[in-house]
Amino acid sequence: MEASKAEQRLCTRLGLEPAAAERLVAAMRAGSSSRSAVVLSPKAPADYEPPFACADMSAAPWLPPRVYVPEAGERPAQYADYEAGLYYVLDVSSCWESAALAHVPPPASSLDLCAAPGGKTMLMAARYVPQAHTANEVNAARRGILRQNIEKCGLPNTEVSGLRPDQWAAEGKQFDLMLVDAPCSGQSLLCKGIKNPGCLGAQMVNGNAKRQKGIMLAAVQCVTAGGHILYSTCTYDPDENEKVISYILRRVPGWVAVEVPLLAAFRSGLADFPCYRLLPEHGFGAGGFCCLLKKTENIEQTTK
Ligand SMILES: C[S@@+](CC[C@H](N)C(=O)[O-])C[C@H]1O[C@@H](n2cnc3c(N)ncnc32)[C@H](O)[C@@H]1O
Repeated sequence: MEASKAEQRLCTRLGLEPAAAERLVAAMRAGSSSRSAVVLSPKAPADYEPPFACADMSAAPWLPPRVYVPEAGERPAQYADYEAGLYYVLDVSSCWESAALAHVPPPASSLDLCAAPGGKTMLMAARYVPQAHTANEVNAARRGILRQNIEKCGLPNTEVSGLRPDQWAAEGKQFDLMLVDAPCSGQSLLCKGIKNPGCLGAQMVNGNAKRQKGIMLAAVQCVTAGGHILYSTCTYDPDENEKVISYILRRVPGWVAVEVPLLAAFRSGLADFPCYRLLPEHGFGAGGFCCLLKKTENIEQTTK
């Protein structure tokens, strides 16, 4: 299999060995790496059992609480319980991206800055009952879907808003936990069989990296001392991942990237701070990137 220039470029940037590069290219071309999961909503009682057969996920100790992975061939969105909002359907990769929340104490206040259609908010709410959560989405049409999903799943103490990140920064309000599931080039969509022209090209990657840095520069202003940001994307390129985080760590004093022992097997070798990349070859969906950042209590003591 001859890789295209764009495919080669990505594999080189990821530092993949030839065999791993071939596996990634094959997955991007096959488009069959999607793997559905469901996360139970607050409407589902503690002893709720999904009405479909579920896979054994003991090989994924990082799986967040109240998440089930249907067996291949099951269609969880076809059941009445889905329509009733007892669970929300997403990709296993999304669940992987939120695994780092295991290391974050229940926040008194939280903001999902890029929230639609609501997957990361649902995963957070499955881990700890939101105390005062804001699900924010700048795109009005997507915000409508977000609101519907939140209402359908009965999330308590959750409001929906539509401010830009710079508007949040100007507001001066601070949160214990911020989710930044950033808009990105979406290279993993290829592995789900979704066409995404240009997503491997420098132009799309650079444009997204610039936007992500802007979002993160605003996000860091909205977090309390000792609070966290969970940054994630569904793309592979280091410019939209490791380099966004290293830019923030270099530029903004008082922030550190936090080790996530649950994700040790996925640790990126492309950064000298802890951050994690899931690839389709891992078998947990189309893949993604995540990094947990903490605002230190005492900025003077921060070393970089
Ligand atoms: C990856 S999606 C979020 C997915 C969502 N967190 C989930 O798990 O369901 C990124 C979102 O960021 C929004 N977005 C686009 N540009 C943005 C910007 N400049 N600032 C903040 N959000 C933006 C998009 O409309 C999109 O809904």
